[in-house]
Amino acid sequence: MEKRGSFGSRFGAVAAVGGSVIGLGNIWRFPYIAGENGGAVFILIYLSISFLISIPIMLSEFSIGRAARRNSMGAFTRLAPGTQWKWVGYAGILTAFIILSFYCVIGGWAFEFLKESILNQFQGKTPDQIEASFKGFVACGWRPIIWTVLFIIASTAIILAGVQQGIERYTKILMPILFILLLGMAINSLTLEGAQKGVAFLLKPDFSKVSGSTVLQALGQSFFSMSLGMGAMITYGSYLRKEEKMMKVGALVALSDITVAILSGLAIFPAVFSFGINPSSGPDLVFLTLPNIFSQMSGGHLLSIVFFFLLFIAAITSSISLLEVIVAYMTEELHITRKRAIAYTATAICITGSLCALSMIPDSILTIDGKSLFDLCDSLSSNIMMPLGALFIVLFAGWVLSPIRLRNEMTNHLQYGITIFPVIRFMIRFVIPVVILLLFLNQVGLFGRLP
Ligand code: PFF
Repeated sequence: MEKRGSFGSRFGAVAAVGGSVIGLGNIWRFPYIAGENGGAVFILIYLSISFLISIPIMLSEFSIGRAARRNSMGAFTRLAPGTQWKWVGYAGILTAFIILSFYCVIGGWAFEFLKESILNQFQGKTPDQIEASFKGFVACGWRPIIWTVLFIIASTAIILAGVQQGIERYTKILMPILFILLLGMAINSLTLEGAQKGVAFLLKPDFSKVSGSTVLQALGQSFFSMSLGMGAMITYGSYLRKEEKMMKVGALVALSDITVAILSGLAIFPAVFSFGINPSSGPDLVFLTLPNIFSQMSGGHLLSIVFFFLLFIAAITSSISLLEVIVAYMTEELHITRKRAIAYTATAICITGSLCALSMIPDSILTIDGKSLFDLCDSLSSNIMMPLGALFIVLFAGWVLSPIRLRNEMTNHLQYGITIFPVIRFMIRFVIPVVILLLFLNQVGLFGRLP
């Protein structure tokens, strides 16, 4: 058996977990889902869910992972041997696979945009020209596939370097730079002509737009963004040192994640309205908007190169955490060498990723009920698999894991967080399972749909 790696320091742990949670989910998915769900109300619900529901789930996953010191499936077999809980682990591995299949397509788009930025392709173009060239790229078929495969190769190369040298070394330098750049872009967007409409869209809630599905979408977005409900945080929790204060790591990571999402909203929506782009353009939204921002910014050429490079890195650090879920399982449970596990997984994702890319071509046959394979993977993972996974994970942490063990993990044997622990445990045991279940049952239509 290969030796288990672990994160070397607090900053390293925060950077690595932050690398997993901060990714395309914040910069690409958050604006498009918020745009489709009416903006401000969605964001309000998303924020409440992130603080009240997602942070306790993240701590539950860390506790399970660190208590077991195993991959996401092995953790359940170690902590509850001979039970059916292992299926939660398997479901998480399947979810990682589904997410990777569409995630690497968007990672590929970021890669293509990096190339376009280097070649200075956005300068001097009108919003219509930018849209036409992007749509042409997606519809072409083979170009997105090549970028998807290149993106998978790049992720694979980093993960081959192992936990500490690979993941930790890169993320701790690059993530703070991304943060500062986004802040600059948000400030710039707010100065654009017509930006107020975007600000109003982000800040003025219209409660008539809330439905059960809005809430489930916000839940799904929060889980996706914080990499919850599928074992990634169990796997990363297993790499946390015993003396690490997981509440601090969790709080820092969650705050950074939420801040990056809100900053990208602030960078994108004023520009969306200023350039006359439809806020509910779906997965294309950010890729239609960003080039316009850069084309009118002074120093836009250089900034676009830096931005797409960082977006690409943010996507890579998230995709390696998804790969890590599958690879840690294969090495520890199936006793396959790390190299082989990575090679098998990467090959499989190249195939499913290419199919997802092809399904984005207009009139593609890779659709079910009018939804592309890409959209299906996206909504299946966020709106079904992750909420269900999170439900079972909190049930496990709240009702199966012994209370003393949970407390010892979360408070480092009563060293800190003693007052907040009972609150978190109450949320984990009662509130969160009920909320997820109700939302879920509402969505599958068991109560008839909410208005
Ligand atoms: N949280 C990542 C993002 O926001 O881009 C996506 C993700 C990574 C989801 C890892 C799940 C996961 F296990």
